[in-house]
Amino acid sequence: MEKKERLDKILSNMGYGSRKDVKKIIKEGRIKVNEEIVKENDLKINPYKDVINLDGERIFYRKYIYLMMNKPKGVVSSTDDPVNRTILDIIDEEYLIFNPFPAGRLDKDTEGLLLLTNDGQLAHQILSPNKEVGKTYYVEVDGFIEEKHKDVFNKGITLDDGYKTLPSQLDIIESNVLSKAKLTIKEGKYHQVKRMFQALNMEVLYLKRLSMGPLKLDESLKLGEYRELTEEEIQLLKQKC
Ligand code: URA
Repeated sequence: MEKKERLDKILSNMGYGSRKDVKKIIKEGRIKVNEEIVKENDLKINPYKDVINLDGERIFYRKYIYLMMNKPKGVVSSTDDPVNRTILDIIDEEYLIFNPFPAGRLDKDTEGLLLLTNDGQLAHQILSPNKEVGKTYYVEVDGFIEEKHKDVFNKGITLDDGYKTLPSQLDIIESNVLSKAKLTIKEGKYHQVKRMFQALNMEVLYLKRLSMGPLKLDESLKLGEYRELTEEEIQLLKQKC
């Protein structure tokens, strides 16, 4: 059955103001639906099919947004923090009206891929440990990462609170007093990557998330920049997660 919704609700959901504000806009005759001026705010329409214009400009309805950010250091990924700058402070109003939240947080000093969306179902699937969505990190540590560590990560590492991690995959890039590697984990415990290396007496000096499942960080995004996911990226995420 065709899903219809009230015009004032649709406009308000899309950020054109409170219900009261949009009622005023409608009353002023600024809205056309299918080329006809509409003055009833409770008119029920199909926002995907009916053509809505505001002041002569077409409005394209959508419910969800998906943003990929290259998170910089120094910004927290929670949406509300009385002290620190949050990721929402660097997002434009045109997206904030959709109330995006991060699907999988990063620490204040971690950089890289952060997905912001208002699609709760997709966020839940990406984060659910049952789905085992791999998150890959580039990591620089103070310590010698050796070949033998691959097996240690693969078998699971016991963290400071006694929790044993699921198998994870270590790819060594450089083995030295300061080592570089990629690590793919399938869960997201608090400070997980840092605590995994800590358990092996190594300190993480730099951490950057490169991917979440099929979604890869667009390296053309500078730190603090973000863009909408392409339709292809959204579909890939939905299929694989
Ligand atoms: N693991 C960490 O320790 N920190 C992050 O930000 C992400 C994963």
